[in-house]
Amino acid sequence: MKIAIAGTGYVGLVTAVCLAEHKHSVTCVDIDEEKVSLMKAGISPIFEPGLEELMVRNKESIEFTTNYKEAYKDADVIFIGVGTPEKKDGSANLSYVYSVAIQIAESIEKDCVVVVKSTVPIGTNDKIEAIINKNLVSDVKVYVASNPEFLSQGTAVRDTLHASRIVIGVEEEIAGNTLMKVYQDFNAPIMVTNRRSAEMIKYASNDFLALKISFINEIANLCEIIDADIDDVARGMGYDSRIGSKFLNSGIGYGGSCFPKDTKALHWLASFYDYELKTIKATIEVNENQKIKLIKKSRKYFDGLNGLTIAVLGLTFKPGTDDLREAPSLVNIPIMIEGGANIKAWDPAGVNNFKKIYPSEVIYCETIEETIEDADICFIFTEWDEVKNFDINNYSKLMKHPIILDGRNCYDVNHTKNANIVYDSIGRATIKNYEFAIV
Ligand code: UDX
Ligand code: UDX
Repeated sequence: MKIAIAGTGYVGLVTAVCLAEHKHSVTCVDIDEEKVSLMKAGISPIFEPGLEELMVRNKESIEFTTNYKEAYKDADVIFIGVGTPEKKDGSANLSYVYSVAIQIAESIEKDCVVVVKSTVPIGTNDKIEAIINKNLVSDVKVYVASNPEFLSQGTAVRDTLHASRIVIGVEEEIAGNTLMKVYQDFNAPIMVTNRRSAEMIKYASNDFLALKISFINEIANLCEIIDADIDDVARGMGYDSRIGSKFLNSGIGYGGSCFPKDTKALHWLASFYDYELKTIKATIEVNENQKIKLIKKSRKYFDGLNGLTIAVLGLTFKPGTDDLREAPSLVNIPIMIEGGANIKAWDPAGVNNFKKIYPSEVIYCETIEETIEDADICFIFTEWDEVKNFDINNYSKLMKHPIILDGRNCYDVNHTKNANIVYDSIGRATIKNYEFAIV
């Protein structure tokens, strides 16, 4: 089967290599020439464990090009995996998806199935079908199918090769049968439904996970007030298989390319139909407050940020990626800069991307030790293993004032007790063994 894929971001490129791994012949199309040359040289333009190895291993079956006409004209299946970023009003920007739909219509010379992998609002598959049919140049039949992805960054290859489920949304049997063939060697449950339900499954899944995080963050905030411990509370809840123990880690809120935009997009879509999704609205509000929780906590220790040396550990929205999209660091660091602080930051993967936004306002350090040296306060934004495994005794040895504000609950509170630090994390008792409270 000849497959073309539009867009080589996390979704497009990972899908491409995993399909190639299952013996399909795949052509990846991207408008970004620089990216295409990198991929032709066997280099992955994104940081994703296992991706480059798989790209190289399957190089005979994957081609990369900017020439969409050549790629689409005789493809049996064309996946759309271009981005659907958030617009200012919270709705999804579909212009990239629609422009690919027009390119497909102008290029194809035989019947084919167009598969929408990008996360798109409910009803978009219908619009894509209409756009393609309106712009068709050849006398061919096009079937549009929804096939949302559920991969997480950092485990994207594994999530695709060993998917929890493959959801196929179709209006015609022929499209469903084609996709069943595409995925026949994948060892995953396949569920076939109609297109709108498939589109909704994607949003409902992401928004539910975001809701779970905002819920546990609210309970954590209350635990701090009433002196309960969120780790124990979450563990106690997680034993109930109806609740499950996953996605109950409290912290400074969810980021990334999906949860923030998908909660806002579904909320926007519901409002458009005059229905208010109250749980999603609350999810978004809780997350926005959570992202600045450490800055608020810092006021317990200092009147303001002016003149402070702040150590920042972690810039990316989660470990295992160099992605900064919607990362808490991007909300907090501008507040620190505005407040007149001197910022030293460390991240094992995200520094180059962060430097593009803040080339000179932040001092970038090679090690955690260098970052915390002489600092007045330390903010932990990402739970990298290097942070979790860091010897906590070093904080009091190296910092001017060893105040640790941990937005990812990296350390066991009991272990911090003898470390001569102020350890303030999310939803847990604050250890104030250090001789000062307010400096
Ligand atoms: C994906 C999905 O597409 C999005 O809907 C989902 O919600 C999150 O994940 P991602 O793979 O992260 O997005 O997108 P991004 O990293 O922005 O990559 C998109 C790629 O498409 C880029 O390489 C871009 O150059 C390319 N592109 C964009 C095209 O080839 N053509 C276009 O018209 C627009
Ligand atoms: C998410 C979904 O998990 C995936 O299924 C979907 O296809 C795309 O969106 P991703 O954005 O890569 O994947 O990351 P994920 O691991 O889900 O984390 C998202 C954010 O939630 C991160 O900022 C993470 O720190 C935060 N998070 C996650 C928590 O704060 N607590 C948790 O318990 C879990």
